[in-house]
Amino acid sequence: MKEIAVIGIGITKFGELWEKSLRDIAVESAMNCLEDAGTDRIDSINIGCMSSGLFIGQEHLASLIADYLGRLDIPSCRVESACASGGLAVRNACMEIATGVSDYALAIGVEKMTDVGMGKATYALASAADQDYEAFHGITFPGLYAMLARAHMERYGTTREQLAQVSVKNHYNGSMNPNAQFPFKITQDTVLNSTMIADPLRLMDCSPVTDGAAAVLLTTVEEAKKLKKHPLVVISGFGSAADAIALSHRKELTELQAVKTSAAKALKMAGRTIDDIDFAEVHDCFTISEILVLESMGIIGPGKGGPATVDGYTALDGKFPVNPSGGLKSKGHPVGATGVAQIFEVVNQLRGNSEKRQIPGVKTGLTQNMGGSGGSSVCHILEAK
Ligand code: COA
Repeated sequence: MKEIAVIGIGITKFGELWEKSLRDIAVESAMNCLEDAGTDRIDSINIGCMSSGLFIGQEHLASLIADYLGRLDIPSCRVESACASGGLAVRNACMEIATGVSDYALAIGVEKMTDVGMGKATYALASAADQDYEAFHGITFPGLYAMLARAHMERYGTTREQLAQVSVKNHYNGSMNPNAQFPFKITQDTVLNSTMIADPLRLMDCSPVTDGAAAVLLTTVEEAKKLKKHPLVVISGFGSAADAIALSHRKELTELQAVKTSAAKALKMAGRTIDDIDFAEVHDCFTISEILVLESMGIIGPGKGGPATVDGYTALDGKFPVNPSGGLKSKGHPVGATGVAQIFEVVNQLRGNSEKRQIPGVKTGLTQNMGGSGGSSVCHILEAK
């Protein structure tokens, strides 16, 4: 298996991008990425997108984006795994490099969510829930995560205030991210007094609806050394796994099995344990999800996620910084783009280029990208060499 290097990263502003189309932002992120890489060589394109059909009425994205990139001569493939679509696109690109199928593999994540009203956006997102057992009965993603939050509160005594601190931390980090949708600081009271969405989750516990795109260019370590444009960042491990979509079909509500398995696979491939990792970008689509993810991956013990957040363990200057980008909560969550945007942040941190939100001296980072309420998960381990 060939060793994988990330030689280019690109991103757009996240937010309500009314003046731009899906193809505009996908190509913008790709062009930024190629400029960063210092090469325009691409042997394949993988595009992560959850639901362009429901959000903008456009399917057949692989050809559309290849056309607008001016690269109709190479294989182009759309990848879908709900909100984990971007992570899966990066995983596909990794497999192409590792197996030698491609020497330069471009992964793009994109979603254009704000062209429809909130009702249609909620319907589109809920199509990633189990239609027969969940969505048909009217439950939405805030409702599903509210049930996970309740289960965690009942079992471990996790409090409303602890959940709020996840949002406070991520907004603090995001206030230093120029690409973030909501780059402002908030207090615990801002969260506790915000509109109730699905009890116990309030508006400021939820990631927003967002337009945005991100791209990464992968090659072999051998090729990256020839280009020598940036400090070498490698993807040393990747893993993905699934779980039952319906919460009622799961054995356990306070641990996410797909997250646990995907992280374990990625760490095993990298020859690492979780103790070797310096920081992580994880899928905080709701405040409870960051806590569940950290506990499921073994970064924090079961039931300890809330207290650890309050104690600053996951803060930018804490022992294990989580979501230095601002996470999905502050940076925004254009669902298909999120997994690629996580890689963007980790590579920037490992290159030492994250300016005000740079974590000093980091050498190893982890990304965790989740589909739906944990029905799928993709993890990557990245290392500065
Ligand atoms: N965080 C912070 N502010 C938010 C926000 C969020 N998640 N969502 C909306 N806002 C802001 C808007 O910018 C707007 O501000 P303004 O009045 O200053 O313009 C205000 O809150 C009201 O926005 P609106 O669009 O009316 O909110 P809404 O009530 O229709 O939607 C949610 C709020 C929480 C329902 C929506 O953001 C949502 O569904 N989030 C979850 C998305 C999701 O499920 N993703 C997949 C995860 S698996």
